[in-house]
Amino acid sequence: MKKPIKASLDNIKQAAKIINQGGTVIFPTETVYGLGADALNSDAVIKIFRIKQRPEFYPLIIHIQNKNDIYRLCKNVNKLTEKLMKHFWPGSLTLVLEKSDLVPDIVSAGSNTVGIRMPSNKVALDLIHLAKTPIAGTSANRSGYLSPTNAQSAFEQIGNEVDFCLDDGETEKGIESTVISLVDEPMVLRLGSIEVERIERLIGKVIALQGSTTKLKMKTKFEFLLPNTLIPKKSNAGLLAFKKPGFFKRKFKKVAVLSAKGNLMEAAKNLFPKIYELDNAKLDKIYIDPIPEKEMGQAIMSRLRKIVQGD
Ligand code: TXA
Ligand code: MG
Repeated sequence: MKKPIKASLDNIKQAAKIINQGGTVIFPTETVYGLGADALNSDAVIKIFRIKQRPEFYPLIIHIQNKNDIYRLCKNVNKLTEKLMKHFWPGSLTLVLEKSDLVPDIVSAGSNTVGIRMPSNKVALDLIHLAKTPIAGTSANRSGYLSPTNAQSAFEQIGNEVDFCLDDGETEKGIESTVISLVDEPMVLRLGSIEVERIERLIGKVIALQGSTTKLKMKTKFEFLLPNTLIPKKSNAGLLAFKKPGFFKRKFKKVAVLSAKGNLMEAAKNLFPKIYELDNAKLDKIYIDPIPEKEMGQAIMSRLRKIVQGD
């Protein structure tokens, strides 16, 4: 395929047909763009791993359009799970549960659990509905780089190898879903678009893991700006600022602001596009203004730690 295609109903129908034929599709969700295939077709799912170029297999998320599909795909759906589904679905919460025999082992990378979510993006829901099958997917980036928040940046990374790419503009949230395991005591495995505070208001205290420390492969070196950081006067450095910076600004060649008013939701939405922009600006170094670590700030900081080298 040559370029992303606007997500009209006819084009979504075409993408659904490709899913049914065992092909791969880049599709929008409210969090980031996904690379998907028919979750019940192992031969189709295996193409996802090949396209992402990650050496080993890893578990994919199954995207569903009808909440009831969880009972076909998972075992032991308990009351707590139902409470979370009722409150947060459709939306950016991935539930990890024991998988049923219907789910091919390749989807769960051999584990007996599977991550499921019902996205809220309408194009994603239409696509799953029209394909009449759940869609296994992962963020539509090449392994080790940022998740794409628009069709263009997904296409630049993996477009040559996919069968179809649906364009639905910038994603609404900009950060991946929160992943919570309900196999045992509820445990947040990845911080994301649904804040831990919101989950805790509904079901009480949960264990939250700090997330993986796998570094992303950025072109430029990123470093946190600390009170004692010295920036040379005439440096070719950039700044990723949370709010509008004051006098500090003149020290940098390029400044990207996540949210002029310091709104965490807006900062999350702008995070990947701004990092992408700075990383491609041929700077020697990029400083990051740390974000307050509460609510969405926790997920933002966990992503920033993944791009800072040598911390
Ligand atoms: O917002 C999102 O979640 C996006 C959109 C496309 O849905 N998807 C996404 O997929 O970010 P991916 O593959 O890039 O990240 C999935 C995360 C990984 O951290 C993976 O380890 C975890 O979910 N995960 C998936 N299935 C799991 C399982 N069975 N057990 C533990 N962790 C799992
Ligand atoms: Mg990913």
